[in-house]
Amino acid sequence: MSSVTDIGARVDQVQIFIIWMMVFWFVACNAVLVYFMFKYRRKSPDQKVVPLKGNHTLEVTWTVIPTILVLIIFYYGVIVWHDLRTPPDDAMDIQVRGQKWSWAFEYPELNRPSTAGTLYVPVSTNVKLTMKSNDVLHSLFIPEFRTKEDVVPSMYTQLWFNANKTGIYNIFCTEYCGKDHAVMYGKVHVLTLEEWERFVADKPIDGSRELTPLEKGEKLFTDRGCAGCHSVDGSTNVGPTFKNIFGREEEVLDTAGSALTITVDENYLTESINYPKAKVVKGYDPNQMPSFAGQLSDEQISNLITYIKTLKD
Ligand code: CUA
Repeated sequence: MSSVTDIGARVDQVQIFIIWMMVFWFVACNAVLVYFMFKYRRKSPDQKVVPLKGNHTLEVTWTVIPTILVLIIFYYGVIVWHDLRTPPDDAMDIQVRGQKWSWAFEYPELNRPSTAGTLYVPVSTNVKLTMKSNDVLHSLFIPEFRTKEDVVPSMYTQLWFNANKTGIYNIFCTEYCGKDHAVMYGKVHVLTLEEWERFVADKPIDGSRELTPLEKGEKLFTDRGCAGCHSVDGSTNVGPTFKNIFGREEEVLDTAGSALTITVDENYLTESINYPKAKVVKGYDPNQMPSFAGQLSDEQISNLITYIKTLKD
């Protein structure tokens, strides 16, 4: 798959240059080897090996030529790497949050809500991602852009790109981060400038109708990775199933470890989304669920609850 960024095309050129250089030397060395095998083969049983006392010209030659070749590879690689790692000053800043096991994107330069699962960017625009993890080590990789960078807790990392072709491309997590690492993927949607205007205005990109609160809630449930731990069909998983959860009485343990009985309502769900450790249903590990405090708006939490309420027999 060819790259959709100019810098990606240059990364490919470095790689192709190195591959062809290796092919050339592999073939050349083996041709000489085979030629010498015949030319210097033992011609009679009593033929003795002539001892070699060293050859300075030869040694200098086979030291200098490979050194020059390696320096060419280094120089060619480092100039492309430098451009790949240096975001242009005019790049649009987008914030990335990685957490077990989903991606969220915030657009501080635009007055619009964040998106989850899909990163939206305009075509032919310099974009800089400033990234941080909420929990463990992740790594954001966009194969078609030929760029990736680790996403870690306690410090920001960044990468940049300029996609020159509209379309939808894959985002993978390439740092083993636990049970659902393999499904921690997302999309980059490269929009035309016209679609971008609609996105900035928080209107549906394809001109279709807006989603209902229930549909939004269902989408959040998938996009935010809730489905990784909470089933909707009653089956057990890392977290309690959401089937028939609304209105259910649960035995929970608070942060001090005291047991109490609560009824699952809007307040309990909101608290558990923002502060998962506050009241943990008995029998579940309090350290599994990441906090979504500050990441989901009140409206989004309300959409999720609307969806959870529908999960009944
Ligand atoms: Cu996140 Cu692997």
